[in-house]
Amino acid sequence: MSNDKVLIFDTTLRDGEQSAGIGLTVDEKMEIAKQLERLRVDVIEAGFAASSPGDFQAVSAIAQEVRGPIIASLARCMSGDVDSAWEAIKNAERPRIHTFISSSDVHLMDILSKNPEEVLGMAISAVERARGYCEDVEFSPMDATRTDIEYLYRMVEACIDAGATTVNIPDTVGYSMPGEFAERIRLIRENVPNIDKATISVHCHNDLGNAAPNSIAAVIEGARQVEGCINGLGERAGNASLEEVIMTIDTRGETLGVSTNVDTRQIYRTSRLVSDITGFPVQPNKAIVGANAFRHASGIHQDGMIKGRTTFEIMDPQSVGWPSSTLVLGKLSGRAGLRSRLEELGYHLDESQIDEAFAAFKELADRKREVTDADLVSLMSSQRRQEDVGQIYSLDRVQVTCGNGEIPTATVRLTNPQGESITDAGTGTGPVDAVYEAINRIVGVPNTLTEYRVDAVTEGIDALGDVTIRIRQNSNTFVGRGSDTDIIVASAKAYMNALNRALAEMEEHHLPKGTVPTS
Ligand code: KIV
Ligand code: ZN
Repeated sequence: MSNDKVLIFDTTLRDGEQSAGIGLTVDEKMEIAKQLERLRVDVIEAGFAASSPGDFQAVSAIAQEVRGPIIASLARCMSGDVDSAWEAIKNAERPRIHTFISSSDVHLMDILSKNPEEVLGMAISAVERARGYCEDVEFSPMDATRTDIEYLYRMVEACIDAGATTVNIPDTVGYSMPGEFAERIRLIRENVPNIDKATISVHCHNDLGNAAPNSIAAVIEGARQVEGCINGLGERAGNASLEEVIMTIDTRGETLGVSTNVDTRQIYRTSRLVSDITGFPVQPNKAIVGANAFRHASGIHQDGMIKGRTTFEIMDPQSVGWPSSTLVLGKLSGRAGLRSRLEELGYHLDESQIDEAFAAFKELADRKREVTDADLVSLMSSQRRQEDVGQIYSLDRVQVTCGNGEIPTATVRLTNPQGESITDAGTGTGPVDAVYEAINRIVGVPNTLTEYRVDAVTEGIDALGDVTIRIRQNSNTFVGRGSDTDIIVASAKAYMNALNRALAEMEEHHLPKGTVPTS
């Protein structure tokens, strides 16, 4: 393995959170940050401190608690932004301020309404101010791939002189192609006289599907930091998918002559956690982490795999922490067996968590003959969701009647925050609608259901159904997820999960039901 390292800069909590439809709480961001620490990324961009009080709080909390990776906050080239970035990260073990300003003509004219010299001056001042606080400063000329190259050289040189230790070249609109992007990095190396005083970073968006290839092309030309998001999240079509970049470097490291510091065995878990918390599913054919990434369907491929794994597999699934598909546990398995399998999957639980997991496992094993690793991962996700959001209202029973010529009718029993059991009934256009109506009558939080999706966790008629929903309350969106072998029950669990999030937000702001604040 080469000692020439490419630093992995994760921006799931900043650019990833900019994906339309994602809004994470401080606790959720912390949970992702802790998993990124286990993944051993080099830099976590924890947020954009000046953008909102919630972001400031999340960046500060992550800076206080997460050890190992550099913790960065984004800041526009404005003194107030740089000051709050520093305020938020100052307690980090290794703090970084990441300041940025647009550099392309179209952005200068249409967004900033400033001339190139004014913008250059703002960039220099921001970097100098950031350096006054912190030794580690990153500068990004936004929309660098559509920026006049001579101006780009000048800006990069001036910002390195002003103290930037990393210069990031973003393909903000995902316009570049690999050969072209590589050429731009090569030209920057050749024409910026002080470039050896800074690390070259790249930050590619995926509008044309080129984000990961562009990033690797830049590495070949000397970039030594790659920015991206888990599962390719990010603004519009997303950022470079970090798992793709990491595994390209891991698998083709000899050709590329570089390596990363990442613990690749944590990739699957990280992907799953991010998908779970954001409610953004991973497409089945997604490289590295999609459900089909290591599945061989055609006869010829299956035959090849029986003869030798490397016939059709370039990576060992275990190297990315893929759970094995072999049957591991069943109805007769005991607590110790469950604990040891969960540990192998990377879940280290305390006694009360094991008790809870074992009860859920037994319940599942009663209904499902074979409990696979994928089922266990799903059970762990449900448990995490309950611990995260808490159970302001909890679901005790759901019963529906529906069918041809019937009015779908549901009866639900919930336990309220005071511990009382409440039962009510509702009708709807279908069984899920009826269940939601009955729940609404009890909980009384007005909202609009904006998304409803069911996925199967494994194959087979007894598979767990995984339901993801989004509800909107004023301008806030809350994600809810639930799984069960019965998809009506899974739907009810997902709805309760989303409602409990909305209620937790109201409680935090001491608001009456129906008045979630806009953040
Ligand atoms: O895409 C982009 O240009 C950015 C910058 C803030 C680095 O996200
Ligand atoms: Zn971006």
